[in-house]
Order: sequence, then C-alpha cells, then structure tokens
Amino acid sequence: MSAREAGATLSVAPIEDADVADIVTLWERCGLTRPWNEPAADIALARRDTNATILVGREGEAIVATALVGHDGHRGWVYYVAVDPGHQKKGFGRTIMEAAEDWLRKTGVEKIMLLVRPENTAVRAFYESIGYGEQPRIIFAKWLDGRPLTP
Ligand SMILES: CC(C)(COP(=O)(O)OP(=O)(O)OC[C@H]1O[C@@H](n2cnc3c(N)ncnc32)[C@H](O)[C@@H]1OP(=O)(O)O)[C@@H](O)C(=O)NCCC(=O)NCCS
Repeated sequence: MSAREAGATLSVAPIEDADVADIVTLWERCGLTRPWNEPAADIALARRDTNATILVGREGEAIVATALVGHDGHRGWVYYVAVDPGHQKKGFGRTIMEAAEDWLRKTGVEKIMLLVRPENTAVRAFYESIGYGEQPRIIFAKWLDGRPLTP
C-alpha cells in the first residue's frame, strides 16, 4: 500500500517565527537554495507585507512542505515549492500547491505563475499532473543593485 493509500495527511498553515530554521533546512535538503538568495532574507521579505506568505505543511510536528506564495498586484506567483525528499510522492506537493491556489483565490487573483529551471526536468511532470501548462515566454531580469545577472 502506498503512503497515499495509507492516508498520509498534511496540515497547512502560514509560517510562524519558530518555523524559520526548519524551513531553511528543508529548502537546503530540496536543493532550492542558491548562493545569491539568502533564505532567511527571502523569508523576511515574504512576511513583511500582506501580499505574500509562506505556507508550511506539517506531518505531525515535522515541517515537510512549503510554498512561498504571493501576488504582485496582477498575477500570483509561487516559489520555494518543496516537499522533504523523505516524504515525496505522497500527495504533499499537490496539497501545498492547492493551499497556495486557495490563498491567491481568496485575495482575488485569477492566475498563478511559476518559474522552472530548464534543468529541473523532473518537476515538469509534477506541475503537469496537477493541472499546470507550459506557457512559452522569455524572462528578462535585472538585479537592482547593478550586479551582473546570476544563472
Ligand atoms: C516537486 C515536488 C514539490 C513534488 O512533491 P511531491 O509531494 O512528491 O508531489 P505529489 O506526491 O503531490 O505528486 C503529485 C503528482 O505529481 C507527480 N509527480 C511528482 N513528482 C514527480 C516526478 N519527479 N516525476 C514524475 N511525476 C511526478 C506524482 O506522480 C503525482 O501525480 P498523480 O497525482 O497523477 O499520481 C518535490 O519533488 C520537490 O520538493 N522537489 C524538489 C524541489 C523542487 O524542485 N521544487 C520545485 C521548484 S520549481
């Protein structure tokens, strides 16, 4: 019997102060941190205003999933979608994404967008399984402190 059939459940709630260290550890375990993104600073910025939050998924007491969700005044965006490697393929990714979608719906946002690095081929099947489609766009970006673009 798979974990999903066994009834693995994820309870999702907005981040609290005591969650920060465990969330950073989860992101590191999931390979989501980058040298140019300081995770604690990313968390603080997401929590600063009401347009964004970090949703935290727990199995029992343990933090096993996250999604940083927010909107820019037009579209909804999700970052740091993570399920602990020891808890993947149990439906938790789907559940945390549904929670992010609900959060955006409640704010009146109509469309959710996300970025996938080209080399992250495995994750494409995940997003397709939960109803997302690829939309060809070219992303232009610029660091506002003048440094060269990072990969
Ligand atoms: C991507 C990730 C969040 C998926 O989490 P998960 O809990 O394993 O996903 P779920 O169990 O909810 O899977 C939902 C669906 O996606 C499919 N899926 C999940 N991972 C998959 C994979 N690697 N390859 C193919 N299908 C996959 C599942 O089979 C399931 O399909 P089904 O409902 O039709 O059976 C998780 O693998 C992860 O944290 N990866 C590392 C971090 C990452 O890359 N994040 C995304 C950055 S854009």
